[in-house]
Amino acid sequence: MPEIRPVTPVLGAEVANVDLAKPLSNAAFDAIHDAFNRHSVLVFHDQALTPEQHIEFSRRFGPLMVHVFAEDLLEGYPEIYRLSNVVVDGVRQGRPDAGQYWHSDLTYEERPSLGSVMHALEVPAVGGDTMFCSTAHAFEQLSPVMQKILEGLTAIHEFGHAFGRSNTTSIGVAQETLDRRPPVEHPVVRVHPATGRKCLFVNPGFTVKIKGMSDAESDLLLGFLYRHMTRPEWVLRHKWCKGDVVMWDNRALLHSGVGDYDASSPRHMHRTTIEDVPSG
Ligand code: SIN
Repeated sequence: MPEIRPVTPVLGAEVANVDLAKPLSNAAFDAIHDAFNRHSVLVFHDQALTPEQHIEFSRRFGPLMVHVFAEDLLEGYPEIYRLSNVVVDGVRQGRPDAGQYWHSDLTYEERPSLGSVMHALEVPAVGGDTMFCSTAHAFEQLSPVMQKILEGLTAIHEFGHAFGRSNTTSIGVAQETLDRRPPVEHPVVRVHPATGRKCLFVNPGFTVKIKGMSDAESDLLLGFLYRHMTRPEWVLRHKWCKGDVVMWDNRALLHSGVGDYDASSPRHMHRTTIEDVPSG
């Protein structure tokens, strides 16, 4: 059976004694599922997954989403989004610099993501970590007065928001791709369906503004929430090893890639994104 070892008091656990390439018994899957809901980030070391095995494991949590960056999907496996700085014969092998800002995956979709499963195929010798912070813990650390204000608010999210700023990505995004994802609205606080915990649901990547507020008011409130959520003592920083599989709960956290590694140092990741299908 999987062994679960928490890595910080706030979020994250390592899972030992499991080979994700093999079919999981229902009992093993239930233990992993329960740990996922409780810890929000799970780290599995020394995994060697084919694309089929990666997809099969991810699908046990729900249907998979296809990323809007069609050119960065793995050929033959549209469920796998490639994050990579590798270029072969002039052809890039995935999205370079992806997700190097705090965000939750795909909050610009009408139905955002439940979670993501990332497999490290090549990692830089130094750098290229991923940081995570708990939006459930952050909500719980606010005063009851602030919690009440936030619970009545709605935010506008848009895919293009992350790419309107010059320093977020080294390659451009076609207008046609941006047009495929118009703005959507989500509550600023959502209840996690498995834990019942209230989670902040805004992020610097895709949240454009708080609905009904002036730009100045919205910027002030969002700026406060972003600083609050990402306080260093609540952040888990994962240093990748080749073969790591890390899965995270997009309903309960934000994450950010760290773009500190040398461009000549290959970093090649495969990621699946699980859809959040409402129950009932
Ligand atoms: C992501 O945003 O999904 C990945 C971040 C990273 O590459 O570390």
